[in-house]
Amino acid sequence: MKNICVLGVTGSIGTQTLEVLRREKDRFSLKAVSANTNHEAIILIINEFHPDFVAMMDEKSYYLVKNYCVGNNKNTKVLKGMEGLIYIATLPIVDIVVTSIVGMIGLRPTLAAIYAKKDIALANKETLVVGGELVMKAAKENGIKILPVDSEHGAVFQCLQGNDREKVDKIILTASGGPFRGKSLEELKNITKELALKHPKWNMGPKISIDSATLMNKGLEVIEAHWLFNVSYEDIEVVVHPQSVIHSMVQYIDGSVLAQLGSTDMKLPIQYALNFPERCNRVVDKINFHEINTLTFEKPDLKTFKCLRLAYEAGKMGGLMPTIMNAANEVSVELFLNNKIKFLQIGDIVEESMIKFVNSDKIDLDSILEMDFKVRQEINRIHL
Ligand SMILES: NC(=O)c1ccc[n+]([C@@H]2O[C@H](COP(=O)([O-])OP(=O)(O)OC[C@H]3O[C@@H](n4cnc5c(N)ncnc54)[C@H](OP(=O)(O)O)[C@@H]3O)[C@@H](O)[C@H]2O)c1
Repeated sequence: MKNICVLGVTGSIGTQTLEVLRREKDRFSLKAVSANTNHEAIILIINEFHPDFVAMMDEKSYYLVKNYCVGNNKNTKVLKGMEGLIYIATLPIVDIVVTSIVGMIGLRPTLAAIYAKKDIALANKETLVVGGELVMKAAKENGIKILPVDSEHGAVFQCLQGNDREKVDKIILTASGGPFRGKSLEELKNITKELALKHPKWNMGPKISIDSATLMNKGLEVIEAHWLFNVSYEDIEVVVHPQSVIHSMVQYIDGSVLAQLGSTDMKLPIQYALNFPERCNRVVDKINFHEINTLTFEKPDLKTFKCLRLAYEAGKMGGLMPTIMNAANEVSVELFLNNKIKFLQIGDIVEESMIKFVNSDKIDLDSILEMDFKVRQEINRIHL
């Protein structure tokens, strides 16, 4: 039995993790969970899974959940804020921490979990984008596994099993192209958030849905792949594959390409990460090849979707540039979702920030947090 902590349990990945745990009750026990504000969902989870600990980031929601637990004689202990998140991510009883928080706010609890020698099932890609160097170094020093949950990285991880890493020629990340594939800049000028939130293939949280529409999501994944698999940016290629049947590929030096295919359902990479290296009974639909008919591949349009280009550039520059890029993206996605800026301004603000803020090679937790704060503050000052 493995004991699990899920950070960000109320989100898209968090709730799909719960679905996997429901199907595999004999393998996993849910010991601790966190959320930001969604107290209603947390109360349902307390009643179903009886976790030992809950951490609520938002203070008001913490009191609501605490009040419920005291009033209903629940044994679940309720904690609050970042201290609460770090506490549950480092509990001695926990074996695996699923990081399904959205945004770089996940960096501190992820690092704390690694220092406490927990394996990480990592969905929270922003953490690797800003802190890849720190996270991978800490993982190595503490002898823990970082198991990718992102479907592309889960696919690459599977294609690497049993093969010599030295013989990898390149990693090929597939991209659906998002809801606006094939559209011109002119057509993207007046895109509404409702249209941008409608992903053609995946049902995801709002931030990653907008990132998919701008192709920033693929850019974040390029940086994530660089850190997870220790591959240079020149050897990571993005291929648009609208059917989203191939989740990603690895090309070896002899020209062989290994691909992982599956239905578009995040429960598959979640299940694989939690059970690694074992394969368990299917929790997703099988692919029906007779229904698929065609698999197509295109080059990404980096002119229209400049966020992907900017992410490659930030990754190559290194230092704090990925933090600058990520902070600018997180805050401008939020501004777009609040109808404060237009869709195309997201890429413009990211680009302007990468020019305005001075990069530094000094990467430690404090300098990442400080730069993240500075970038957010400045963008909000201008646009709020
Ligand atoms: N969704 C997917 O299919 C998918 C696929 C691959 C990778 N990912 C990655 O997985 C991560 C989660 O994505 P998602 O789509 O599941 O996001 P989501 O649906 O928006 O869920 C985010 C979770 O994080 C919590 N949260 C939000 N802000 C927080 C804060 N400031 N402090 C603490 N907790 C906070 C939320 O709590 P509340 O509910 O209380 O707000 C919720 O539990 C992202 O990094 C994303 O890029 C997602």
